[in-house]
Amino acid sequence: MRLDVVTIFPEYLDPLNVSLVGKARAHGRLGVHVHDLRQWTRDRHHTVDDTPYGGGPGMVMKTEPWGEALDQVIADGYESGARRPALVVPTPSGRPFTQELAVELSARPWLLFAPARYEGIDRRVTEEYATRMPVYEVSIGDYVLAGGEAAVLVVTEAVARLLPGVLGNAESHRDDSFAPGAMADLLEGPVYTKPPNWRGRDIPEVLLSGHHGRIARWRRDQALDRTTRNRPDLIERADPAAFDKKDRETLSILGWAPGPDGRFGRTAPDVEE
Ligand code: ADE
Repeated sequence: MRLDVVTIFPEYLDPLNVSLVGKARAHGRLGVHVHDLRQWTRDRHHTVDDTPYGGGPGMVMKTEPWGEALDQVIADGYESGARRPALVVPTPSGRPFTQELAVELSARPWLLFAPARYEGIDRRVTEEYATRMPVYEVSIGDYVLAGGEAAVLVVTEAVARLLPGVLGNAESHRDDSFAPGAMADLLEGPVYTKPPNWRGRDIPEVLLSGHHGRIARWRRDQALDRTTRNRPDLIERADPAAFDKKDRETLSILGWAPGPDGRFGRTAPDVEE
């Protein structure tokens, strides 16, 4: 996979050299190219922004530097053999970035990121490139960052760990929280490793039982418990067919019951601990 990032803060992307993404690069799974947007400015001050039409606070990133930057980065990519680019524009106004979208992006051969500072990029830029390639406007959460660079790091890490061979164990992301299939729509429960006793704290005995069925059941109950606490919306939205008899017992103990449409809802008010 080829990644290009055009930014006014190239050094912000330095973490792409380390850890998992760095490993993917070292193994040749990922080619990363970071470009300074100001290279494509023509004035003495290297201006990339201007005041918004229609008034209002803040500044808007200008069309010309972005257009010239993207044209050249795309041309250079094609020249070095890359094909089928997709433009990824991080913005709080984008569609939510989910595991499903990470899986979709991980299948693409070439991602071109356009992180904005200020109030965003002049709309005509995304419109223009949308005529030539898929454009993904993505938000990494319901909060406003000072710029899209941190979102590029988030998306890149989520995508890179899905590339074949990067995680080592092909099964490693099958049970991820939010992974399509298997434990879909439940958060993962707690995990433990050696030593078996730490500061007087034992690990749950069932994990030492060697009884795979009981361990799987315990993990499922833990996942249900954690999901009801931290993401009740996932339980409320879940297709009731996803819950087996034992799930239903566990949910009932946790204070949840099926409503008239079969979907689960809370029966008891939250108890503070
Ligand atoms: N830029 C600023 N805030 C953002 C967010 N929440 N997601 C993606 N890009 C952003």
